[in-house]
Amino acid sequence: RAPGKLMLLGEHAVLHGRLALVAAVERWLTVSLTPLHEPAVRVQSALGELELPLDKLAPQSPFSFILQILAARQATLPGGLALTVSSEFPATLGLGSSSAVCAATVAAVRAWLGLPFDRSAIFTEALAAIRAVQGRGSGADLAAAVHGGVLAYRAAPLSITPLATTLPLVAAYSGGKEATPAVVHQVQELGKRWPALIGATYEQMERSSLLAAEACRAGDWAKLGQLMNFQQGQMESLGLANLSLATLVHQLRRDAGIFGSKISGAGLGDCVIGLGTLQDPAAMPAAQVMPIAAHGVELI
Ligand code: MEV
Repeated sequence: RAPGKLMLLGEHAVLHGRLALVAAVERWLTVSLTPLHEPAVRVQSALGELELPLDKLAPQSPFSFILQILAARQATLPGGLALTVSSEFPATLGLGSSSAVCAATVAAVRAWLGLPFDRSAIFTEALAAIRAVQGRGSGADLAAAVHGGVLAYRAAPLSITPLATTLPLVAAYSGGKEATPAVVHQVQELGKRWPALIGATYEQMERSSLLAAEACRAGDWAKLGQLMNFQQGQMESLGLANLSLATLVHQLRRDAGIFGSKISGAGLGDCVIGLGTLQDPAAMPAAQVMPIAAHGVELI
């Protein structure tokens, strides 16, 4: 099983080599693998069911990531298999279900093949599948699913640094989702029209992410919250807010127990996060406490 994630800082900028902070959260996705006697692959989840002959593996909806992982391993699979995916969170929340399913599938298949449990090998194999299916992907979400905890992440040169294993965090779902590749495309187009301004925005995000990594290590939540508020401004500049997200951000900030709040993830949907502990949870019924998952993918 592998945990979901929430991006704390640096989303989008991370696709341009900047630092991001990401946290694994205690919401788990489980993949069960059962070897089959027949040469077939069966996949089943809340998204549907699919059966393919073992020699005809290719990514297809709604199981593109899983099928890509199996197709890349086709030559080494000893026979047919059934995979069942069950998740404590739906794919629409922006909690990184794609990364969690990739991390858990790769770990399950490697265990079946008798390969050692090696987080960096799981990360590399799962990231290749994400990039093959999606074209782009920083790997930040996947780092959280594989390693757990609160991490500082840079895609190139790859660096994954653990910062903390706890953090007071709440998340509120905005009620909608835009597909991440579509939002990434929109931001890239904005960057083409306004290269100097968007470049400077990423640079600002990098600076606040670097300060945030220090604040996180020191457990300085007031400082980290302030930096999250700064980055909310930058997410607004990138066109990633909508009325529902902006309203949730400001509702969270009204609570005296919240140090800062911002959109989390690609934007234009998914979740808003708040750093801190709500003093008046009744005023914010949409917000859920999100404990940090101190470790990542595991065999159970
Ligand atoms: C990840 O949750 C959001 C983006 O930064 C995309 C990525 O990191 O691959 C927008």
